Amino acid sequence: MARITAGIATSHVPLLGVASDQGKDRDAYFGPIFAGYDWTRAWQQAEKPDVVILIYNDHASAFDMKIIPTFAIGCGERYASADEGWGARPVPDVEGHPDLAWHIAQSLVLDEFDMTIINEMDVDHGLTVPLTMMYGKPAAWPTKVIPLAVNVVTYPPPSGNRCWALGEAIRRAVESYGEDLNVQIWGTGGMSHQLQGPRAGLINREWDNRFLDGLTGEGDDLRRIPHLEYLRETGSEGIEMVMWLVMRGALGKRTRALHRHYHVPCSNTAIGHLVLRPDNGEGLDMTDDGADLATAAA
Ligand code: DHB
Ligand code: FE
Repeated sequence: MARITAGIATSHVPLLGVASDQGKDRDAYFGPIFAGYDWTRAWQQAEKPDVVILIYNDHASAFDMKIIPTFAIGCGERYASADEGWGARPVPDVEGHPDLAWHIAQSLVLDEFDMTIINEMDVDHGLTVPLTMMYGKPAAWPTKVIPLAVNVVTYPPPSGNRCWALGEAIRRAVESYGEDLNVQIWGTGGMSHQLQGPRAGLINREWDNRFLDGLTGEGDDLRRIPHLEYLRETGSEGIEMVMWLVMRGALGKRTRALHRHYHVPCSNTAIGHLVLRPDNGEGLDMTDDGADLATAAA
């Protein structure tokens, strides 16, 4: 059977894609940001997921005001990097896993999550920047990817509770797939950021770090954070963090943090990154000694 073996959360700031593409990722400004991903890059060499279910949001690249799906799953064979206005990023195409994706789509719909199904689209920084942060600049991405897009751009986005429940349903879907596959789930976006208006540049370190704390262990308080709190405390784009709750919901009752990184500033935002293991006593390897929480932000 397929298993979700880990969850990864990361911001997806487009400037990080630019920094990598232009070879500036180890300069004075970007070095400390990328250094926080070194642990994960090394760890992924051993983890070697077959498939990543990548929870992200499209930023008016594949969708626009004509069509706004709340939850959409990519069932295509491959996805090209989107042109977001200055040419497509020079990164490899993303290879899908149509068979597992269609299985998940069926399972979710029968589980009463009415997914939009996408067979063709380009993927923007919301999806390609996390791949860059985790894998650098390979000739081909080392894992297949099932894109799962959440509307966090146009009001009303789904509630955090609904996102968590979607994660729980994704786990049931994966575990009912017959083939042995090592599956990871990634939640992307955040952390606190407001890109426009009088509060542009708003950062709330304390709130962000409480959110990171809340993803670890057994608590599920995060599912009850209302939209207005994200907006007030973390800025107009902070709502992207509900996508991290899809990831968390898919990991089961308890999680253990293997690695954590938080850095301000990155562009106009705070970036956060967390690697979680489902701690469900079901025989997953719990022997990692990767607990490298020293980079947890002050
Ligand atoms: C920016 C854009 C994003 O989509 C995001 O999640 C964070 C930052 C930006 O334009 O800086
Ligand atoms: Fe974003």
